[in-house]
Amino acid sequence: MKKAALLIVLAGCGGVSLLSQQSNVVLPQDKGPDKIDVSGYPAPMQSAYKLFASKCSKCHTIARPINTMMKRDEWERYVKRMMHKPNSGINDNQGKQIFEFVVYDQEQRKDKNPKAFFPALSDEEIQKLKSQQ
Ligand code: HEC
Repeated sequence: MKKAALLIVLAGCGGVSLLSQQSNVVLPQDKGPDKIDVSGYPAPMQSAYKLFASKCSKCHTIARPINTMMKRDEWERYVKRMMHKPNSGINDNQGKQIFEFVVYDQEQRKDKNPKAFFPALSDEEIQKLKSQQ
């Protein structure tokens, strides 16, 4: 009973999102598909996909990374940035596997059909969307 009451208080004042650095903005990418058909991917990539889906959906939709286009070095920077957010729950080894997955998926799926995906937004563009929502 006490625990439930505490959760309600935390949720009510936005404390939960503060604790986990939850993303509090809806990006265009969030509205796209939230699954990747990895049945044709090699086994290690299929297991890395599971890790990606569980770790990268903690603070925002999994659709966000699924529908964002980035170059290899941008993904590297981005996965590190996400890993280093407080309470990301992603360790170095997991971050490496996720990075390898997003780069493979970028080449296999996104680079072949770039129009279906969204370019990454700059921090300024994200701030602007936040102020409009
Ligand atoms: C600790 C919380 C957290 C975790 C875990 C997390 N993210 Fe994020 N992510 C954010 C925040 C915060 C933003 C910035 C936008 C915002 O302020 O809402 C963001 C934005 C993004 C964007 C949008 C980039 C852009 O500029 O358009 C992508 C792509 C992304 N994250 C990918 C990932 C991937 C891949 C993972 C897993 C490795 C991941 N995220 C895990 C918090 C997180």
